[in-house]
Amino acid sequence: MLTFPSNFLWGTATAAHQVEGQNFNNTWWEWEQRPGQIRHGGSSRLACDWWGGRFEEDFDRARDLGTNTHRMSIEWSRIEPVQGVFDQAAISRYRKMLEALHARGIKPMITLVHYALPLWVEKMGGWENPNIVPLLARYAERAVRELKSLCNLWVTLNEPNGNAASGYLLGVTPPGKKSVMAAIGVLAQSVRAHAAMYKSIKNAQPDSQVGIVCNIRPFKPASADSALDKWVTSVLDRLLNKAIILSLYQGRLVFPLELGRAFPEGKDTQDFIGVNYYYLETTKFDLGRPGELFRRPMLKPETMELRKYFENVADIDPLGLEMALAEFSPLHLPIYVCENGIFDTERDIQTAYIVSHLAAVHRAIQAGADVRGYYWWTLVDNFEWNEGWDARFGLYHLDVESQTRTKRPAADIYSRIIRENGVSDDLIRSYGRAF
Ligand code: FCB
Repeated sequence: MLTFPSNFLWGTATAAHQVEGQNFNNTWWEWEQRPGQIRHGGSSRLACDWWGGRFEEDFDRARDLGTNTHRMSIEWSRIEPVQGVFDQAAISRYRKMLEALHARGIKPMITLVHYALPLWVEKMGGWENPNIVPLLARYAERAVRELKSLCNLWVTLNEPNGNAASGYLLGVTPPGKKSVMAAIGVLAQSVRAHAAMYKSIKNAQPDSQVGIVCNIRPFKPASADSALDKWVTSVLDRLLNKAIILSLYQGRLVFPLELGRAFPEGKDTQDFIGVNYYYLETTKFDLGRPGELFRRPMLKPETMELRKYFENVADIDPLGLEMALAEFSPLHLPIYVCENGIFDTERDIQTAYIVSHLAAVHRAIQAGADVRGYYWWTLVDNFEWNEGWDARFGLYHLDVESQTRTKRPAADIYSRIIRENGVSDDLIRSYGRAF
């Protein structure tokens, strides 16, 4: 039996734009309106209808699974629909959601910005306008003051590294830019934004726990003998995985964000480190791809098949999660796995994924990583950004039209793991790595 620490937090994760529906005042809704952007014309229109009240039934599901925490996000564009105007009705709606979690014995973790920005912020230049920093700090302070009686565990930004890479380097998410310099600028801006938000959250709630969540996709050189493969993977790892967390930790903007310029405001602004992990990527240097930082992902044949569900997939490998956790363990900060999961396919790969990745978390803990909690992405199928409804990560299937939820096999396995506070030998025998 791989037993987890007592008080371990077991949860699921969601994000506002992906579950709420009727969320029309942000960058993602606008993006969805552009023809051809979302696979098969998918739309977040009703999503899981949480704004219409279905969070109640989904939180019942979270409780039935036995989870004791849930990570959700609140939508800046609802709370501050117009610059400087705060919407009390939206805030009350979020209070209701949080009360519903508490009523079920589920501790909330709240993310303040999960990808989407209010349209008024984007019109000002979004992440490229330095004014976003004080605006975010004001929003964070207001939101925390309003909700602090119901939450003390906060994430400032979700995957600012993913946002910079996909929105500003690859141009595949809002605002659709393709510029290495813009992407690096947005990474540095995210460091400044986190530090300012941290400070304003602490003003509002001194005893809160605040962190930032990065997507960690460990890179492996395609050939261990190739200096160029090793070079490109180490640059990518530094830029895309580690630069934000290390800049904050060290209190200076580390290369390549800037050449090490002091940024003391960032120091000691991570009460915990948030890691989102999905895949491990084997990469080859490719001179012909300067716009992608000379990176050519080398996918296993079985991974290629998964691209029909999810474009940006890389290899499924629990070792990557162990590597990600080991990477941050020397910083001696609590770590939360804020997202980990896989979409459903014709055959069930979710069960093997969850068992083998939790075994990897356990190994990382044994090796000294201070992992406090694990959030499976996600509870119920939701609007998966550019993949629309093609990639379905839920422990429950959703029929969007009828809003009917149906449990998948992995739900019962996760539930059993939670109840036993560990992964039993028979689960490892049956499912460990059998993707
Ligand atoms: C993460 C995002 C989350 C979800 C999962 C599948 O990168 O943070 O919103 O889309 O991927």
